Amino acid sequence: MEHSSRIPGFYKRSLAERAAIVAQWAGLSSQEQATLLGMSGLNAQQADNMIENAIGIYALPLGVATNFLINGRDYLIPMAIEEPSVLAAVSNAARLFREGGGFTTSSDEPIMIGQIQLLDVENVYVAAGQIISNKAMLLAEADSVGGSIVKHGGGARDIDVRPIMNSAIGPMLIIHLLFDTRDAMGANAINTAVEHLAPHIETLTGGRVNLRILSNLTDQRKARAEGMIPAQALATDAISGEDAVRAIVEAGVFAEVDPYRATTHNKGIMNGIDAVVIATGNDWRAIESGAHAYAARSGQYTSLSKWWQDDDGNLRGSIELPLALGTVGGATRVHPSASLALRILKTQSARELSEVCATVGLAQNLAAIRALATEGIQHGHMRMHARQLAVAAGASGAMVSRVVEMMTREGNIRLERAKSLVLELSESIHSPASAAD
Ligand code: MEV
Repeated sequence: MEHSSRIPGFYKRSLAERAAIVAQWAGLSSQEQATLLGMSGLNAQQADNMIENAIGIYALPLGVATNFLINGRDYLIPMAIEEPSVLAAVSNAARLFREGGGFTTSSDEPIMIGQIQLLDVENVYVAAGQIISNKAMLLAEADSVGGSIVKHGGGARDIDVRPIMNSAIGPMLIIHLLFDTRDAMGANAINTAVEHLAPHIETLTGGRVNLRILSNLTDQRKARAEGMIPAQALATDAISGEDAVRAIVEAGVFAEVDPYRATTHNKGIMNGIDAVVIATGNDWRAIESGAHAYAARSGQYTSLSKWWQDDDGNLRGSIELPLALGTVGGATRVHPSASLALRILKTQSARELSEVCATVGLAQNLAAIRALATEGIQHGHMRMHARQLAVAAGASGAMVSRVVEMMTREGNIRLERAKSLVLELSESIHSPASAAD
């Protein structure tokens, strides 16, 4: 049965109720639910097999973003993140895009780039010619160590040569192996392939190979997302839809032209993307470095997204970035919560996962720049901050919301005030008068 990811009031439910909704959505067993709740899941022994010098486990909150409609299909999106407001903001933004029909996405074939640094050749261009004229042999050699990726239809696709004539160490030839890694992120496969090719390249050219490693600028493996929000959906008591569209477009252009703003703008995008990347057990450092390098591809660091007003006066946004993600291999299958995250997403395809991440980035970006361009970011942040202060001051259960309400109404969101309110409320609960009530 196809469910809707539009679950009004999801955030108001208890954690247990939310977990039960998600478990039903993904068909999780009670054992799997216990994993999500942190009662089982990654154990110290598994951690010991994953990294060196392991001493324990480091946990993060796991949430799901609601309201996502992508290419006509509903998604609940698992996100692991410590930062408050991200889940609420992205779900709210996805609801707005839903009013415009949801997101449409696309992605490239999962092509990774492996680099080989060739030095000490007499003539870089002659070496380049030798490599190109032996391309078929080199591609076959790369495939010969491709293992299960080749069996699943992936493998070596092409070889590019990039002469670099001026450098501090003289001329060098950089050779790129383009390798389709299917549903794997593919770091191991591509590194194995370039290490295997290196001696063949030395024999062909008479040169010396130094580095053999993948590039995290995976610009052959991009994902794209686009969506529309009707102007009236952006209207509030304080601002008209038309003015909100204009202010959001202005904010987007600011990031396009100014690297200082683009860095923060893209950080907001990565708030969303990283959280999905982490939840699915993928390498978020690889995604981060690729995204920022791509943002600087023209020579000036710029925004990863674009915002404009369409002919009907509605807001449109799009995003494109490299997203080398896997649904097999690495931690995606070793980390118990990561495989459950893929179950919640109901996908085992790396390309689909990358497209989902692109939509999350676009939605997160909209949420941030909409808030910044209208009421300011602190409004929502302060409510969440007030919650954290209430809990730090000793409130629990229903008292948390009461303390938050009172501090917000008073405009006095400080730990001291939270403590005094907790004291007052606890005293009134325990006073004889209230006991008699
Ligand atoms: C905070 O984590 C992210 C923002 O700064 C992003 C932005 O400024 O666009 C709100």
